[in-house]
Amino acid sequence: MLAFLLIVGLSFFAMAGSLSSMVGDYLFTQQIRADRTGLEMLAVKISDDVYQGDVDALRSQLSLASGEMGGRIMLLDENGKVQLDTFGEMNGERLQYPEITNILAKGMTTDYGVHELETGHQLDSNNLLFTRRGNASWVGYCSAGVVHSSRIIGVLLLVSPVQEMMQNLYQLQDRMVLIFIVIAAAALLCALIFARLITKPVGGLMRGIQRMSKGDFSARVTSKNSGEFKQLAQAFNSMSEKLETLDQSRNQFVSNASHELKTPLATMKIMLESLIYQPDMDKELRAEFMNDINSEIDRLSNVVSDLLTLVQMDSKNVKLTRENLSIAALIKENAHRLQPIADQKQQQIALTLSDPCDIYADRSKLNQVIYNLMENAVKYTQAGGQIRVSLVRQGREAVFTVTDNGPGIPKENLPHVFDRFYRVDKARSREKGGTGLGLSIVHQLVLLHGGAIRVESEEGKGASFIVELPLHQG
Ligand SMILES: Nc1ncnc2c1ncn2[C@@H]1O[C@H](COP(=O)(O)OP(=O)(O)OP(=O)(O)O)[C@@H](O)[C@H]1O
Ligand SMILES: [Mg+2]
Repeated sequence: MLAFLLIVGLSFFAMAGSLSSMVGDYLFTQQIRADRTGLEMLAVKISDDVYQGDVDALRSQLSLASGEMGGRIMLLDENGKVQLDTFGEMNGERLQYPEITNILAKGMTTDYGVHELETGHQLDSNNLLFTRRGNASWVGYCSAGVVHSSRIIGVLLLVSPVQEMMQNLYQLQDRMVLIFIVIAAAALLCALIFARLITKPVGGLMRGIQRMSKGDFSARVTSKNSGEFKQLAQAFNSMSEKLETLDQSRNQFVSNASHELKTPLATMKIMLESLIYQPDMDKELRAEFMNDINSEIDRLSNVVSDLLTLVQMDSKNVKLTRENLSIAALIKENAHRLQPIADQKQQQIALTLSDPCDIYADRSKLNQVIYNLMENAVKYTQAGGQIRVSLVRQGREAVFTVTDNGPGIPKENLPHVFDRFYRVDKARSREKGGTGLGLSIVHQLVLLHGGAIRVESEEGKGASFIVELPLHQG
């Protein structure tokens, strides 16, 4: 910002300088032209008298011209020595102004320069702004060579006051500098306002990013602008929203997982303590405790392996070991595995497999999908219930449905059944040994196979899980 101010200031200053010297040059040219022509004409006129050394004639001519041209006129010989001075003060003195040496030494016909009266210092018309001296009085020196038979035999010097012209020039300069300062200030103000307008939304965004980098995902940016900034703000907001949800679900996951691991550990600890502190415990009770501890360990190891499966799928480096399979065959296998439990509950498992539905997929993962869905149906449906499993081919897809006439899932819980650790009836499904991870694993596995899963249910009437899998895969 400072650099920008400096550049603007300097360029305006340079512009003011060059403009004022341009005006100065113009004014000088006017003056010089008049003085030069007058002096040149005079030089021609007196050339013979100089040659002949007619001092009286010269004196009268010079004082006449001096009156006409409004300045002091001096005649110098070819050595720069004053021969005649209309003011009569400098006779015999040698002058070494550049205007004189330019003619005598360099052979110029005329020359002009402005000098400070007191010091003789020459004015640099190209740099008026920086060589300005406030209270100096200025005089103009105009010189012209007196030529006779192609030889310079003397120099005429007209010294005229240019104070008034210089005053005007200075006034003009002052005014110009003032105008430029005003313009520069206005431009700077505009630039500042403009820069503010641009940096303000960026600042908001920056603060948002800083908050987010410190782990505060609730940061949102508002943008009143339209266009790119609004889009940027919207993109930022949707990103931070996603990160916030991700952060929350991660925290939820960790707390759920630890809770899930803690419960069986606490149960086991109580039972173990009873075994330790009651050595004379009834043999049967002791055996029962041992059994309970054993099943808690099973539960723990199930949770851990489920968690591992999920973490593996999250890290996106799951490899599917695909082979040619028949979904119908897999369903039959799983029905066979679950039959004993279903028999215990006097449940019927009815299979309607209208097509073998050959698929190129990962056997164990597809098995997990089918088993989890059928196991849920058996587990949550009351004794004497009905489980219907169907498989149909629809175009290039296999549609596999598991329907039961159990308690169903309340409408408000439906959107969450695929969430991790989600259980509809917390107490009851825990009793049944569930951790709430089954469906989320199923969901991930179906997605991995390029398929989709959804649930339809009416409370009290049963639930239906529908899986669609593309048949022609890689
Ligand atoms: N067929 C169904 N009928 C009624 N409720 C069901 C059915 N299937 C699942 N649910 C409900 O959805 C919840 C989530 O099911 P999920 O399979 O993910 O977990 P779980 O069966 O409790 O545990 P896990 O499968 O990990 O042993 C269950 O707790 C249960 O409340
Ligand atoms: Mg389950």
